[in-house]
Amino acid sequence: MTVLRAHAEEEFAEELALLAKDDDRPRPPGWLLSPWAVTTYVLGDGGRITPKYVGARRLVEVAVATLATDRALLLLGVPGTAKTWLSEHLAAAISGDSTLLVQGTAGTPEEAVRYGWNYARLLAEGPSEQALTPSPVMRAMAEGRLARVEELTRMPSDVQDALITALSEKTLPIPELGIEARARRGFNLIATANDRDRGVNELSSALRRRFNTVVLPVPATAEEEVGIVARRVEQLGRSLELPETVAALTEIRRVVTVFRELREGVTEDGRTRVKSPSGTLSTAEAISVLTGGIALAAHFGDGVLRAGDVAAGIVGAVVREPGSDRVVWREYLETVVRERPEWRDFYRACREVS
Ligand SMILES: Nc1ncnc2c1ncn2[C@@H]1O[C@H](COP(=O)(O)OP(=O)(O)OP(=O)(O)O)[C@@H](O)[C@H]1O
Ligand SMILES: [Mg+2]
Repeated sequence: MTVLRAHAEEEFAEELALLAKDDDRPRPPGWLLSPWAVTTYVLGDGGRITPKYVGARRLVEVAVATLATDRALLLLGVPGTAKTWLSEHLAAAISGDSTLLVQGTAGTPEEAVRYGWNYARLLAEGPSEQALTPSPVMRAMAEGRLARVEELTRMPSDVQDALITALSEKTLPIPELGIEARARRGFNLIATANDRDRGVNELSSALRRRFNTVVLPVPATAEEEVGIVARRVEQLGRSLELPETVAALTEIRRVVTVFRELREGVTEDGRTRVKSPSGTLSTAEAISVLTGGIALAAHFGDGVLRAGDVAAGIVGAVVREPGSDRVVWREYLETVVRERPEWRDFYRACREVS
């Protein structure tokens, strides 16, 4: 089957099998790999195991170790810091299944973290275990696997609190049937939450106490960010089967530099202050701008990624809000971009689309 996007455990099945084969360290109950091997899967080993998350080893170790305890893991960070990405890979490596997923929104109903009913059966047969439709969390409990909750803080607080029993008692009462579903060993939960959403539905302290929080940082240096972007752009291009393009490192560097300077409010050399636009300009957005640019270069250009292929994407990412963002962008363009002799082509391309 040609799916548009494979789950991590499918895409990296070979690497996971390789790790499992040589893994002689102790595995927590219900885990497919030892914590050590999970960490190697996530960070790569410089050989056949490719790096997925690029960042501090200790951070990943803390995240993995947490999942081997009775506390759940909360990945916190600004948008685009790979919270979702890391959560998927952890679930794939630990449980072999990253699909037990609840997407948190303001409209997430309690059934999404507990259970619902198949109404046809419920009406025909009355409440029975067969008429019950388990949520991903309930299935994770039954199978002894990891459940994932995306954007935990966006869910209404009563829905969040429905998780407390699952996390503290490791059971889910089903009063309609007079029974409780109990978690098998291996069950735990990874939640992600966005720093910027704080206050939307602040976690209750009862729930917060059940989580260890790991904060994912934005890449520390430009070089690190260029590395992340280059790797992901290459992978994405391959999986989208974009025609072969020379993904010039110069363009990747340029996009990352523009994003970092606008984000941090100062130029790389520390000499010029610039204003920051309203958008986040995350690593993830840099990846999208470049992937879009490659599609342009491949289908409408000469197969070489050039300034003109990324300019429109950059302007689109920076100018989110037509009023003030446009002013911020104009100023950056005229005071920073224009002054860099090696950025002439880029300046011209931006002027055309700004
Ligand atoms: N440190 C990193 N290592 C590897 N990939 C990264 C890193 N930072 C960002 N990425 C890439 O950025 C993309 C977006 O990440 P992801 O969607 O997981 O972000 P997020 O933190 O969940 O954002 P949001 O808060 O918007 O949901 C992924 O494709 C991921 O590969
Ligand atoms: Mg996310």
